[in-house]
Amino acid sequence: MLKNKLENLIGKSAKKIQKKYKLKKLPKFTVEHSRDFQFGDYATNAAMVLGKEAKKNPMEVGDFLIQKIKKDKNFHSEIFEKIEIIKPGFINFTLSTKFLQKNLLEILKQGEKFGSSNSGKGKTIIVDYSAPNIAKPMHVGHLRSTIIGQSLYNIYKFLGYKTISDNHIGDWGTQFGKLIYAYKNWGDKKKINQNPIEEMTKLYVKFHKEAEENKELEEFARKETKKLQDKNKENMKIWKFLVEESLKEFDKIYKILGIKFDYVLGESFYDNMLEQIVNECLKKKIARKSEDAIIINLDKYNLPLFLIKKKDGAYLYATTDLAAIKYRLKKIKPDKILYVVSNEQALHFQQLFASLELLDWSKNIEMKHIKFGMVLGKNGKKLSTRKGETVPLESLIEKAVKLARKAVEEKNPKLSKAEKEKIAKIVGIGAIKYNDLSQNRLTDIVFDWNKMLNFQGDSAPYLQYTHARIKSILRKAKYKSSAKSFNQTLLKNELELSILKQLLFFPEIIERAAQEYNPNIIADYLYQLAGRFNLFYQKIPVLKAEKELRLARLNLIFAAATVLKNGLGLLGIKAPEEM
Ligand code: ARG
Repeated sequence: MLKNKLENLIGKSAKKIQKKYKLKKLPKFTVEHSRDFQFGDYATNAAMVLGKEAKKNPMEVGDFLIQKIKKDKNFHSEIFEKIEIIKPGFINFTLSTKFLQKNLLEILKQGEKFGSSNSGKGKTIIVDYSAPNIAKPMHVGHLRSTIIGQSLYNIYKFLGYKTISDNHIGDWGTQFGKLIYAYKNWGDKKKINQNPIEEMTKLYVKFHKEAEENKELEEFARKETKKLQDKNKENMKIWKFLVEESLKEFDKIYKILGIKFDYVLGESFYDNMLEQIVNECLKKKIARKSEDAIIINLDKYNLPLFLIKKKDGAYLYATTDLAAIKYRLKKIKPDKILYVVSNEQALHFQQLFASLELLDWSKNIEMKHIKFGMVLGKNGKKLSTRKGETVPLESLIEKAVKLARKAVEEKNPKLSKAEKEKIAKIVGIGAIKYNDLSQNRLTDIVFDWNKMLNFQGDSAPYLQYTHARIKSILRKAKYKSSAKSFNQTLLKNELELSILKQLLFFPEIIERAAQEYNPNIIADYLYQLAGRFNLFYQKIPVLKAEKELRLARLNLIFAAATVLKNGLGLLGIKAPEEM
């Protein structure tokens, strides 16, 4: 990747400057590709930071730096057209057209693999995401986790990591006692079969209502939980039924969204490890008894107590997460675990990671809470129905598809009904995913349907449409991708170069998205690429260009379509051939 090469070159030369000026430390510098290509294609602030450290004029330092770079044995002069320093001391690198054209050939050769790498080879990463709770509807928070988690999974996989997804379903805990009690007393199996989660929610709500009147119910529920934990046959059977029915509904949503998991190990899976975990904490003296409950003291980290066993003997979400880590360390030996879970659980993960440190489990492993914000309606309030309940995911997805159907109908009425339906699904679901992934993870996102489905705006349909438009041009031209047979040197005007440059950046963009756990870096990149193509296509003839130039331009736009498709794929979004 050119960016890495540049970083190395500049780093090596900077070290020489460091020696020259006898600097104690080498200051950190950045290498960044430019957004508008006005002054160059890559820029570094190395001369500025070195100048500051050495108390020298950065322009002067920059001149030295450039000399050193050019003398390096790894410097290939044919890559750059020019390297210059501009006030107050930025060094700009302009790429040669020859180099850019060589990269185009590379894209044609690599096709759907372009952008991938093996930088993650030998490393294993677990992505813990989605994780809805049994007997409760999957809500927009889980939707965000699912979309972001799947995208990170795709990105890491593309970079050569051994990537493992695990859906840590909430299928255990005291709420099941309540549900089992409610089911035994008021449940109707048939109704649950027809509408599992809705019926279960009703049972749950009814339990709480009745329990307000009759305090005994809580006690009954506790007994049911205990019986379940002791693997009482009847309770296990009801629990299994509730789990299976819920999973069926979740799977429906996963299927629509195109989501798959390597593991679905729910909380219940770790039940038989919990006692042992608590004992280990006690033995290592990081946990202690406090009024019959067991807690981990995290004063050292300025964090509140971490409760791992309640005084009634029940274990908690926290205990299960500890057990899951122990299991994963043993079975999967990951280098990294990502938890894609909303902001609201920030404290839980701080406590969890601090506890790991105390347990001395986390020596060679990096744990990361990949936080995200809430989903809001256009009015800026939490998404909810008129009755104040949260909006069920299925109806949300249905709405997106319905709106997409209308748009597809307008754009391309000649398509067959089946095709329209297929495309509407791809566009509607793409719109939901892109709306999430194109924004910074940490901010609250808004569902603004007009914006999400705007074919001219920063949206999935715009990118999908740009891709389909290129494909339609290629079909008209009866184009066949040919890495060998074209005269690439013909591509040299500004608009062509701007696409070539943007294409070159793709691999480094993916790397950055992975480093920052932010798929929006890819989304933003794709939006720029589509913009550059559309600008080019407005001004420059492709089909009507003379023969050789036509082929060169067809290759160029084919490469753009390839990168659009690869990039959308990393976001979990499909790019149809036709729209
Ligand atoms: N089921 C949890 C919830 O809905 C999310 C679980 C996230 N994963 C984890 N390992 N804690 O809030």
